Amino acid sequence: MPSNKKHSWKHKHLLDVDSLASTEYKSIFSLAEKYNKLLNNKKMIKKTLSNVNIFNLFYEPSTRTRASFELAGKLLGANVINIASNISATQKGESLINTIKTINAMHSDIIILRHEDSGAAYLASQNTDKSVINAGDGSHAHPTQALTDSYTLLRKFKSLKNIKITMVGDIKHSRVARSNILLLTKLGAKITLCGPKVLIPKSFSTDNKSRSKEFSFKNINIEHDLDKAIKNADVIMALRMQTERQHSKNIPSLKEYAKKYQITNRHLHSINKNCLLMHPGPVNEGVEISKEVAESSLSQIEEQVSNGVAVRMAILELIYLNN
Ligand code: CP
Repeated sequence: MPSNKKHSWKHKHLLDVDSLASTEYKSIFSLAEKYNKLLNNKKMIKKTLSNVNIFNLFYEPSTRTRASFELAGKLLGANVINIASNISATQKGESLINTIKTINAMHSDIIILRHEDSGAAYLASQNTDKSVINAGDGSHAHPTQALTDSYTLLRKFKSLKNIKITMVGDIKHSRVARSNILLLTKLGAKITLCGPKVLIPKSFSTDNKSRSKEFSFKNINIEHDLDKAIKNADVIMALRMQTERQHSKNIPSLKEYAKKYQITNRHLHSINKNCLLMHPGPVNEGVEISKEVAESSLSQIEEQVSNGVAVRMAILELIYLNN
């Protein structure tokens, strides 16, 4: 298979963003931009993945990630097969590894996996000779969402150096937060984490020496007071309360959380007038943000979803053409 020489890609799998070289994520952004333009102008898209078989294997609910990977694959000419665990042989006791082996035997080329267990995509990648893309594993990583979010911001700011981004919500259980922190700090952004103490791991405030040089938890502040945390922000990223992963009671109730941490119209008057509001979705209106804020002109939520298609097209193509 000829490689796409204009773009750099060295990995067989996409399991998280921390293994990516800057040339690789820049390749994703530049290819995504090409596809975004073609999609927005309804131009013809070359079927670079014709005869490629992509399996979407989802053990957790998803709207955005699953549908955008399916659309991305189909737009590039691939065959896309969707397997949802609630109606698959998982219900008859088949393990993840045996399901991967089964898909492996069905002429698959790329396996896209979402799973409730952190590390599931890594396990899958060790049990197949196909490329695995992590579509979200437990509270660990969601690389394609982080790449989508950085791409969305780069389209607005050109460079993220010293851009102030405040993430508000359940940082502890959020795979989106973790992958976004890794990538956004690498791109030069300054991150403030805001939320109840029990939902922000202390490890995020330290310069963790165990990480690679390219990715470290530098440039991170923690501020539990919402008004202070968002006052000078260029971007507010609201995150969903991950109630499905909160096995012990971390907060008294969602109502109590909303009283202190919901972004509402009141906050729109005290933040930078050009501040952008992001949310990876799904949004629980009335908990992390109000309906008015979600629908305000600051909101990038729908743009994040649209950009997710182009970013996933870029990822599929780079992985397939370079393996
Ligand atoms: N952001 C995100 O992962 O959304 P879905 O769960 O709908 O895929």
